Amino acid sequence: MALLAMAVAAGAGAAHLRSAPASASLEWGAGIGADTMRGLRNGVRNGRSMREGGRRVLRLVWCRSGGGEPDYEGGSDGVPSSVFIFGMGYTSLALANSLRKRGWEVAGTCRSEEKRSALESRGFQAHRFNPDNDAECLREEAIQDLHRSTHIVSSVPPVGDFDCDPVLSSHREALVQAASGGLQWVGYLSSTSVYGDWQGGWVEEEIEPRPVDRKAVARREAEKSWLQFGDEAGVCVHVFRLGGIYGPGRSALDTVRVSEKKLSTRQQLRGHKRFTSRVHVADICQVVVKAMESGQRTGRVYNVVDDDPSPRAEVMAYARALLYDEHENPPVTSDNELSEGSASAVANASLVAEKRVSNRRVKEELQVELLHPSFRSGLEAIASGSNAPFD
Ligand SMILES: NC(=O)c1ccc[n+]([C@@H]2O[C@H](COP(=O)([O-])OP(=O)(O)OC[C@H]3O[C@@H](n4cnc5c(N)ncnc54)[C@H](OP(=O)(O)O)[C@@H]3O)[C@@H](O)[C@H]2O)c1
Repeated sequence: MALLAMAVAAGAGAAHLRSAPASASLEWGAGIGADTMRGLRNGVRNGRSMREGGRRVLRLVWCRSGGGEPDYEGGSDGVPSSVFIFGMGYTSLALANSLRKRGWEVAGTCRSEEKRSALESRGFQAHRFNPDNDAECLREEAIQDLHRSTHIVSSVPPVGDFDCDPVLSSHREALVQAASGGLQWVGYLSSTSVYGDWQGGWVEEEIEPRPVDRKAVARREAEKSWLQFGDEAGVCVHVFRLGGIYGPGRSALDTVRVSEKKLSTRQQLRGHKRFTSRVHVADICQVVVKAMESGQRTGRVYNVVDDDPSPRAEVMAYARALLYDEHENPPVTSDNELSEGSASAVANASLVAEKRVSNRRVKEELQVELLHPSFRSGLEAIASGSNAPFD
């Protein structure tokens, strides 16, 4: 479906693109219920070894979803492995989807009961983890899933109330135990905001970040904590510094469609920047999967951004052109005008910090070829109806 959508986009003019659905759905079609999945998983745990069983379970899942034959490339040795994801949000749900298609077993966390049931109904083993809410930590069943995992991904951002990363501050001991078992790899989803202001200069992973506001400082501290955990526990930790994430259901197209008349202060501030790093969610998935399956065993930091750190105003203009022709009346934009109230918010230095983030390392070390090297192809794919990597 994704390929078909891309082909349409390549050959289509704005008239075709205007007929794209008003908003892309984040649903995907893995058609197997939570009960069936749980039953299969229990059968696997009670009987055959997990890896051996994992193959059979996942083959069955795939057949029922009608998606054709998967390639079993889960672990670095070509055997499906199991991943525990802290924070099954936008990006990590896409990642979970990609990994499951490749034969991985996936368990993860979210904060609310509603979301937990929704994840279970999509066939994921889901647990609640909400340390902000009366220190609601993982329950025993979740800890068992954690201990069984060969890989862990954390997508939980730092929160002010914690001295360090919420996952590490709540479950360091369980993580250390996992490391003394089968845990091989941890991925931490971070942000390019840690770099701070380089007045538009290029930044690579080697430079010492100089975060400029409280959030970015907390993010940098969380990175350091995870890398230190890796050293102490003898586990490979990869930190992924993500640019602004966009994809189906979350892109400039959605902003133009629904809310351009009322841009948030943060959006207005970003509109003034000459350079903004961004990345399509499908490319994040591809980078993280490559890192997980690379078999690399040393801690590393990777920037995950596209090749084209264009100003936000240019992206919005392109989105508008995809959605409206010149005779239509596009919504009013205030890309280049800061409203009165927001001018004072310039104090939020992270939003106006200028840098261009290099992706050389992921290309050289992980042989990544970006699916969307620029926002143009990314937005075209979304406008033409592609739901990848959620399909
Ligand atoms: N959005 C961007 O443009 C951008 C850019 C660079 C970096 N990042 C960072 O990259 C990561 C992935 O981004 P995303 O946009 O995909 O994230 P997202 O959709 O906001 O998902 C974050 C996940 O973490 C969970 N979570 C958040 N705060 C938590 C807390 N205090 N305790 C426990 N769980 C918590 C959320 O739980 P629920 O599922 O219950 O909500 C969700 O599952 C995040 O750390 C984000 O901050 C984002």
